[in-house]
Amino acid sequence: ARITLRQLLDHAAEHDYGVPAFNINNMEQALAIMEAASGVDAPVIIQASRGARSYANDIMLKHMMDAVTEIYPHIPVCVHLDHGNGPETCMTAIQAGFTSVMMDGSLKADGKTAADWDYNVGVTKTVADMAHLGGISVEGELGVLGSLESGMGEAEDGHGAEGQLSHDQLLTNPDEAVKFVKETQVDALAIAMGTSHGAYKFTRKPDGDILAMNVIEEIHRKLPNTHLVMHGSSSVPQDLQDIINKFGGQMKPTWGVPVSEIQRGIKHGVRKINIDTDNRMAMTGQIRKVLSENPSEFDPRKYLKPAMEAMVKLCKQRLQEFNTAGQA
Ligand code: G3H
Ligand code: 13P
Ligand code: NA
Ligand code: ZN
Repeated sequence: ARITLRQLLDHAAEHDYGVPAFNINNMEQALAIMEAASGVDAPVIIQASRGARSYANDIMLKHMMDAVTEIYPHIPVCVHLDHGNGPETCMTAIQAGFTSVMMDGSLKADGKTAADWDYNVGVTKTVADMAHLGGISVEGELGVLGSLESGMGEAEDGHGAEGQLSHDQLLTNPDEAVKFVKETQVDALAIAMGTSHGAYKFTRKPDGDILAMNVIEEIHRKLPNTHLVMHGSSSVPQDLQDIINKFGGQMKPTWGVPVSEIQRGIKHGVRKINIDTDNRMAMTGQIRKVLSENPSEFDPRKYLKPAMEAMVKLCKQRLQEFNTAGQA
């Protein structure tokens, strides 16, 4: 059944678990997420970015979401817009059947420039006011995702702020978070504490200097009833890096967010955990493996099926690690 983010995260808060939000762009990813959720009896969040919407087409996404809820009727699924960049994008997502939207006003509509307070509050409140009239949930973001190691926003992969940012901008201020939630009435709040999108988050295993989980704990103390969201939460597992590199890939050494840190977050109000990169890596590793071991193969099913299976495995693992398993 299709449910809203609010319904799902209220249940998660009541029962002390977190819910992974996995990104999709195509049928294989949608099927893999639902197969994993069904396999461990978990509710799940499927999210699509603006990039996914232009890749797959809103009508295709809408019918794909309808299809997977029909195939897996017993699995509660929230269909969420990831990183909406303005009220128009959010409203057209709602028209396409999304039950939840993210208005990311931490960045200007270009998705690159860090936004100021008034812009973020204004645009997020506009979306929340409209979405709530239709029973749709809203996620906002305060603070800019980016590296505390380099002070850089996420220019490299095209996400996030450009250039050098201050330590302050890269960490959500707890008092401002209280004010932001009060003024915008968002259902969930994404915060910044040192993670970034993509595979290259940390150049070493992160400690408290570069992954500031204490910020989450402080925000949760001040906002005990707000559902917190961790973006950039792929763990970038070493074994997935190894498979990719073994079969001709060229990923540089890198670290992601350890699952143990996410589990710590879940103890302190983190309810939605965004994961895309890990699934991209799981799929790509298998595609590389099949094609390099069988250079004469050209049936897409021969590499997409193992790719899907690797994604099912990753998704199941996270659903178990976040205690989402068994909650459907
Ligand atoms: O926000 C980051 C997600 O991984 C989605 O990425 O914008 O390339 O679809 P994307
Ligand atoms: P990763 O790149 O760490 O998977 O983060 C995904 C994300 O935050 C989507 O909004
Ligand atoms: Na999101
Ligand atoms: Zn994100």
